[in-house]
Amino acid sequence: MEIVAHRGASGTHPENTLAAFTRASSLGVKWVETDVTLLGDGVLLVHHDARLGRVVAGTARVADVTYPEVADLDAGSWFSTEFADQRLLTLPALLAWQATTGVGLNIEVKIHDQDHNAILASLTAALNTREAKACPILISSFDAEFLRLVAEDLPQVPRAFCSYHLPSDWQARVEACGAEAVHLNILYAKPAQIAAIHEAGLRVALFTINTEAAMARANAWRVAWVMSDYPEMFLGKKN
Ligand code: G3P
Ligand code: MG
Repeated sequence: MEIVAHRGASGTHPENTLAAFTRASSLGVKWVETDVTLLGDGVLLVHHDARLGRVVAGTARVADVTYPEVADLDAGSWFSTEFADQRLLTLPALLAWQATTGVGLNIEVKIHDQDHNAILASLTAALNTREAKACPILISSFDAEFLRLVAEDLPQVPRAFCSYHLPSDWQARVEACGAEAVHLNILYAKPAQIAAIHEAGLRVALFTINTEAAMARANAWRVAWVMSDYPEMFLGKKN
């Protein structure tokens, strides 16, 4: 079973920062998950929320600000003053970090209000570099239509469909975008759904596995990937 560091090692470090990704890499994870969203100036930002305010100061929608406006914000103190030096990353900066570590990057594209094609243009530009092409990358999204566009423009990059409540037409959506995996929230995932996804020849990933009890369920359901804020809890155990 693959233990994926969710937003980096985000249980012990501020999510989606270099500190969290570097910690995950030093723990020995093979993959990290991260959230990426589009700023008003077309820069892809490594950031979970639709608005500033939780991990950095501010209230604006991310879609309404430019990278220079957020580049100097402290993205670590909300977690601990020890991380006051952490800044928001751009996707190209994270890809540069990835090239130095070789850790696989699951880029979960967060579509808040932004235009699909604008996101896709920036994503394509970021991933069509020689360095990015040499690294393991998986694009995931809750938006199957966006994944379908990714399949058209970046057919070589594997894709995964994310869902909280798996829609009844999940198989058609997955087939339309050529996803190789379905990423499900363990709070809502049902064993029969997981069995059906496996039956269709697809990988299942569960998020977010932060307890031994949750890991026991993931093991019982034979999922191939689990995402955890605390990868250190599970690495090195016989899962
Ligand atoms: O990529 C799966 C998972 O990260 C989705 O939930 O809210 O943690 O981005 P969230
Ligand atoms: Mg995510």
